[in-house]
Amino acid sequence: MDRRNFIKKAGLLTAASALPMSVIELSYANTTDNFSFAFVSDSHIQQIKGSQFVRNWDRGLIRAVAEVNLLDPKPDFIVYGGDIAQIGTAAEIDHGLDLLSNLNGMTHFVMGEHDYYLDLGEHWSKRLGPQYYSFDHKGVHFVVLNSILTDDHWTHKWSSGEERMGVMAGLDDPRGSPFMVGETQRAWLAQDLAKIDTATPLVVFSHSPLQKIFKNWNFWTDDAELVQDLLKPFDNVNVFYGHVHQIQYNQIGNIRFHSAMATAWPWPYPRSYAQAPSHMPKLTVPMNRADPFFERDATGWQFIDIHSGKADIDYYLPQNKRRHIKANEFTSQPEDVDYQDKQTAAQKHY
Ligand SMILES: [Fe+2]
Ligand SMILES: [Fe+2]
Repeated sequence: MDRRNFIKKAGLLTAASALPMSVIELSYANTTDNFSFAFVSDSHIQQIKGSQFVRNWDRGLIRAVAEVNLLDPKPDFIVYGGDIAQIGTAAEIDHGLDLLSNLNGMTHFVMGEHDYYLDLGEHWSKRLGPQYYSFDHKGVHFVVLNSILTDDHWTHKWSSGEERMGVMAGLDDPRGSPFMVGETQRAWLAQDLAKIDTATPLVVFSHSPLQKIFKNWNFWTDDAELVQDLLKPFDNVNVFYGHVHQIQYNQIGNIRFHSAMATAWPWPYPRSYAQAPSHMPKLTVPMNRADPFFERDATGWQFIDIHSGKADIDYYLPQNKRRHIKANEFTSQPEDVDYQDKQTAAQKHY
């Protein structure tokens, strides 16, 4: 199945409805063994009481699972990008995993902060195993990191897990702490990558962006540069992450970054992207958003075709025009083809 036919078939699906998941096709030069995987993220399953859960979040995940199961060709595996739960109780995680158990295919899980900060990942790990690991598939080396850790002092200063989660789960809470991968995992990553030929395509999954986008909302990983240093020797690196509930794409050196959309709700682009340059590094790539006021924007479907390390991404958005992010032929940076010259103003956020 070539890319055009894949899109054609996938397009049939998107014509019917919005698809709250992502499909990522990896295709590399000099390789005939191309494949795709699906990416589902940020469902935020939330218990009201007993067997009652917030219906909207349930429906988003149920729909994503159904759409993944309908994919043709079938993805080789599925990645879940983190934030299964909202406040991280065993009931929320178990209910989310019950819904995800309907997926036809092997699923790899990434830890989100909403899964972690109530019991420091205990229940998640009991159900799903290690919080960071790597695997190989058809010549590509995949790494899963837990990027939402923070320093021990912050982690253990709270009187209860509920209090800690309440602080870490909010946006703009000055009592929060920046995420990090941490020294232990960075040492593990260095060791893991030492065994891999630098010509091997490398794909990294994290929950938070392994780049610094916006600190106040933890669209940020504090030791991002140190992780990027470990990825630098590789010819071809792509990082996929959840957490931001919106379209983001960027490139730093040899590393390309792509966010996946959420099945729960979209976040707006913080006004501070445009307003508070002192709070963030200069963005190398201008971004845009179809409709930040529409509750289902950023819960669409994206098709990512990676060839020779460059990603062409088609975003299928409910009730919005498709978006096409292509690598610019000359700069090699990803650009929003239709919106590059007519950006909409940043949303006011208070
Ligand atoms: Fe999230
Ligand atoms: Fe998150």
